[in-house]
Amino acid sequence: MSEVEVYWHDHAVSREEYEKRNGNKGCVVWFTGLSASGKSTTANLVDHLLYKLGKHSFVLDGDNVRHGLNANPKMLQERHSEEFSKRFGLGFSAQDREENIRRIGAVAKLFADAGIIALTAFISPYKIDRDNVRKTLPEGDFIEVFVDTPIEICEQRDPKGLYKKARLGELKGFTGIDDPYEAPEKPELVLHAGNKSAEELAEEVIAFLKQKGKI
Ligand code: ADX
Repeated sequence: MSEVEVYWHDHAVSREEYEKRNGNKGCVVWFTGLSASGKSTTANLVDHLLYKLGKHSFVLDGDNVRHGLNANPKMLQERHSEEFSKRFGLGFSAQDREENIRRIGAVAKLFADAGIIALTAFISPYKIDRDNVRKTLPEGDFIEVFVDTPIEICEQRDPKGLYKKARLGELKGFTGIDDPYEAPEKPELVLHAGNKSAEELAEEVIAFLKQKGKI
């Protein structure tokens, strides 16, 4: 008996049936890389290409998810008590990033179970957090895509002005500046994003999904 009295219910419709109807396999394409490396742009282009192919996919993106499911304490305080907001709101400490990735991993897995290609775009700087998500999925269903853009290029782009703030010391614990980024050791795919267009990178992802029989 489960110690916490929570039971798993099997679904009436199987994953295989969802996949058959959708015309693609469910999986998680996990983009990881520095802020402004091109994760979200590439994930969204892949999503668009898949949509045009009639495939079923969805993008989970760091900045968007941090507005809802993984909102910060301040945002939660609009509707919840201070104690609740402190407890469940997420910032950028190593522990909060761990919980951010754990929740996203769980959501992405639900998408994969529904026969959908979940495209996630989170910095996910810690190897152990990414590996923990990998462990929740069947072999071959976690496709780690390292968006390998040199920090100099990310810093030049700086679309939100955050690198500048971090350099000035106005923003503490910014990934790549005064917080770690652990590059994947054996990702399924490396995108050399510094010298290619986002369109080219998206095509590389599509080619990989075809090669692996996901689409
Ligand atoms: S993760 O590290 O937990 O995976 P996530 O991808 O959700 O991060 O969010 C990253 C985005 O939050 C960045 O693109 C940036 O816009 C913003 N951000 C704000 N503070 C930080 C910080 N200290 N480090 C990194 N990104 C930050």
